[in-house]
Amino acid sequence: MSDLAAMQRTALDAVAAATDVMALDTVRVRYLGKKGELTGLLKRLGKLPAEERPAAGAEINTVKSALQQAISEKREALEQADLEARSNVDALDVTLPGRNAETGGLHPVTIVLQRIEHFFRGVGYDVVEGPEIEDDYHNFEALNLPEHHPARAMHDTFYFNPNLLLRTHTSPVQVRVMETREPPFRILCPGRVYRVDQPDPSHLPMFHQVEGLLIDHESSFADLKGTIVEFLRVFFEKEDLQVRFRPTYFPFTEPSAEVDVQCVHCDGNGCRVCSNTGWIEVMGSGMVHPKVLQYSGIDPEKFSGFAFGMGCDRLAMLRYGVDDLRHYLDNDLRFLRQFS
Ligand code: DAH
Repeated sequence: MSDLAAMQRTALDAVAAATDVMALDTVRVRYLGKKGELTGLLKRLGKLPAEERPAAGAEINTVKSALQQAISEKREALEQADLEARSNVDALDVTLPGRNAETGGLHPVTIVLQRIEHFFRGVGYDVVEGPEIEDDYHNFEALNLPEHHPARAMHDTFYFNPNLLLRTHTSPVQVRVMETREPPFRILCPGRVYRVDQPDPSHLPMFHQVEGLLIDHESSFADLKGTIVEFLRVFFEKEDLQVRFRPTYFPFTEPSAEVDVQCVHCDGNGCRVCSNTGWIEVMGSGMVHPKVLQYSGIDPEKFSGFAFGMGCDRLAMLRYGVDDLRHYLDNDLRFLRQFS
């Protein structure tokens, strides 16, 4: 009984020192639990002489209830503090200004691709995609560019091995379609193409092309011209846009023509953009070479067709007045925001 006062002091100190509910519970168990120190004293009351028991019992019970009260007060205080701390962290300050939800925009090259697709879908073309990793056969051979053909030198090719490469143009998709589809058909093949090039204002090692191909029982250069002139006038939104077809050579078409438009910056008067010529080259085109049809199992006696290929990055440059292709890949929001 002589230790009771000391025990009360230690116990109350421990309660006061508890910094969380767990620590407090440890104190409670230590003194008031089934095997607790105070509980032990109560159990041992029976060993006292009968006349001392009531007083001793009362004393122990006073300590017990003092401790119980201290614990329950402390528990409440700890729980309150915990709640406050938590609500400070999770607090929702409704007076803060709202976060701006910025809407993104399409990349200028994507916008141009979509405009091209929209026009050609409207005149019956299906959009078809092909692999960016191509084999030599589809990228060159089947397009009438056999090994050692001098025109291969125009394509600075990334090779994985002698047979596998990053396609240098979207023309191999023509081949893949001709191999598998029964003509007549009209297809448009957009996609990325790759050439070994040091990036500069007008060259990127990866750029975008759109290839068009029409195969039918009868088709003529007049059909090719009509389709392309109409497309360019719609694309540049200029009804009287001047277009010219310049004879050139492509292995996969015969005859072949490069297509120029009247410079959209100076209306053909001559400026820096068109190197003072008044004209800007926008695509290659021609009547599909009979050998190319044959390679893919189409009878050139029964079918003919025309094809064309254009670079989307350069078309986007012309349309939006972009002066450096590298802006397309810089991820500079000041550049990109202009198109959203
Ligand atoms: N494949 C050519 C190139 O990358 C572009 C081209 C020219 C595609 C004439 C054609 C075409 O379909 O008929 O330079």
